[in-house]
This record gives sequence, structure tokens and C-alpha cells, in this order.
Amino acid sequence: MDYIRMPIEIEAPEEKGYSNLKYNLTESSYQDQILSNLSIELKNLALSYIDHRGNPKLRELILSSSKKAKIEDVLITPGAAGALFFVANALLDPRTQDEIIVVSPNYGTNLITPKILGVKLREIHLSAKNHFAIDLDLVKNSLNSKTKYVSITNPHNPTGTVVPAATIRSLIALCESHKIPLIIDETYRDMMYQDDGIFWADESPNVITISSLSKTYGVPGIRIGWSICRDPQLNEKFLAVKEQVLICNSVVDEEIARQVLDKKQELLPKIKLDIENRFQLVKTWMKDMESKNYFTWVQPAGGVVCYPKMVGGNEEVWKQFYHTIESKYETFVGPGHWFYESDQQFRLGFGWPTIDELKAGLENLSKARADLKKLFDAP
Ligand SMILES: Cc1ncc(COP(=O)(O)O)c(C=O)c1O
Repeated sequence: MDYIRMPIEIEAPEEKGYSNLKYNLTESSYQDQILSNLSIELKNLALSYIDHRGNPKLRELILSSSKKAKIEDVLITPGAAGALFFVANALLDPRTQDEIIVVSPNYGTNLITPKILGVKLREIHLSAKNHFAIDLDLVKNSLNSKTKYVSITNPHNPTGTVVPAATIRSLIALCESHKIPLIIDETYRDMMYQDDGIFWADESPNVITISSLSKTYGVPGIRIGWSICRDPQLNEKFLAVKEQVLICNSVVDEEIARQVLDKKQELLPKIKLDIENRFQLVKTWMKDMESKNYFTWVQPAGGVVCYPKMVGGNEEVWKQFYHTIESKYETFVGPGHWFYESDQQFRLGFGWPTIDELKAGLENLSKARADLKKLFDAP
């Protein structure tokens, strides 16, 4: 297997060292929680192997708004990243020239794991011109007898856009008629600004949803995610891959996750309110940026990231922009190449820094763009 590290991981803030990034606007998660603030109690925890599918109480909490799924339909994984890896490994076989249909740009693992497994990717490109909407006709035309699954991310990373329920219903119908799964990466699910309340795994046994506690609850370090699917044969396959890698998850991680999710009613409204305030700041700033012709964007509808695009310039100028924001203004964003796209666009994360850091970081982006005005305006 030809494993190669993804740029988003090589250049990740934790790899650079958090203390080296003064204004860190790269993150896609909400502020990191501190253990002592969560009143977690672990003293009497037996440090044993645990249920291979995951703590049943944790799985029950994950299903709190489901009407159909049962706890055996949930597999706890090391983050959503682990779930994506297990599912791809369980479903794909390069020996049979498998293909998948997947939206791009995307969080890298949705693309790179299948690629490493030797599978052909039929990418559904999401473009700003089309408000990052999924082209259903393109999905239909890309489907063939070798297609093993269709994969979407909702809310989407890096754009923060949300797929309309009607589109997801059409994709489910399409996948059912071809007897293949629809994977919905819902890692940002709890951060939708207008929650439609639809529990997609309930809608069809062809749906596999993947999510985690990392982003919304600010606990990426406990590495707890999951897959949900109402097809028992598929779940058995996912579990088989998981057992090969780690038998079961860390008992400590799962217990912390259980206690965090048990406090969802208390934690989530505060987090969502804070995200709403931050989003208002970014909206006001973007209005100014658009009026100055500095950056354009498609407004997100969920999560704590957006994907602005620089107006004008070229590869050299965009490189200069990143150099200026980092070296002169100590400000960091996620360049387009993190998503295998041009650096003309960048992911801006507004949920992780303090409010003061966010305000200063936004201001610094404006200043750097103003500093480079001549370069951007050059024909
Ligand atoms: C869409 C998406 N899926 C999965 C992941 C992995 O998240 P984690 O493994 O921390 O749950 C990320 C992280 O950025 C993501 O953006």
C-alpha cells in the first residue's frame, strides 16, 4: 500500500505547535474543552478491554434522536477518521476495479483512503459558482456496475454548506436502486444552524452515517467517533476491520465521551449560541471584504468554517499573501492545497480561537490583503 501523508495533516496546527500560531484561524472544530471544566469522573473505571462495538450506554446516547436504529447498528471508532477508514476498507476491493462517487473538495480521508486502496474515484466537484451544490445528474451519470458507494459530507468541509434534505433523499433513492450504500460524513452534524432533525440512518438501511464528538464538543483529543448503519452484514464487516486494527477503543476515551454526551442538553445550546455570535462577526467582516473586492464567499449553513476566495492575483501573489499573514501578522488559515485545490481559496475557522483572537485574525487578513493591493491589482 502506497500510504502518503496528506498536506492538511503535515501542516496541521498541532504538528506546527499551537504555541507557534498566535492567531489560529485554521481549525475546523469548536474551542478545546479542558477536562476539569467537564466534571468527568473516572476514578472507579476498570481499565479493561471493552465491548468491541463500543460502550452500550454511549451508543444509546448517540441514538437518542433515532426512531429506528438499534445500538447494534452503532460502531464506536477512533474519531470519524477511524470510521471513514474502517468503512472504506470494508467496502472496497481494488482487485475488482471498484469505483466510488465522492464529492470534492472534501476532508482528505474521504478521498485518499479509497485512492490508496486502488479504487477509481469519480469526483463530484462542488463549485462556488453553483453554491457548492451537488449535481445530481452528474452523480447519476457517474454511476455504473462497478460503483461501490456514493459519499457526501454534510455539513461540508471546507465550505460549511449544507446539502438540502431533498437532495439527500434523491441520493438515497438512487443508491437503493443500485443496491449500494450512501455514506454521509456528518462530523459537523450538531453544528447545523437550522437543524432539520432528520436522522439519516433511520431513512434507509443503505445509509451509513459517520460522525464524532471532535468538532462540536471540542474534544478531538479523545478520538471518539462512530458509524451508524441499519444493515447488520455491513456492520459486521466494519467491526471485522476495527478488530484487526485495535480490538476495541480506549475505555478511558469512551467513558469521557459518554459523560460528555450525557451533558449534551447543557453543553450544546451554549456552544451553538457562541458559534452564532462568531458567525455574525465573520459575516460582517466578509461584507466589508466583498465591498472592497478582497474576498468572495458562499455563506456557510453549518459548522465553524467557511471557504473564502481571493479576488484576483495568481499563484505567486496567493503565496505572498500566506507568507505575509504568517510572517508579518502571525495569522494562520488553511490554504486551498489542504483540499487539493488552488490556494486562491482558503479555509477560515472561526470556532476555535478566542473572540479577541478571531477579531484580530480577521483584521490581520484584511491588512495583509491591503498591503498586497498593488500585486493583486496588477494585470
Ligand atoms: C468531514 C470530516 N470528517 C472526518 C474528520 C475527522 O474527524 P475526527 O476523526 O477528529 O472525528 C474531519 C476532520 O477534520 C472532517 O472534517
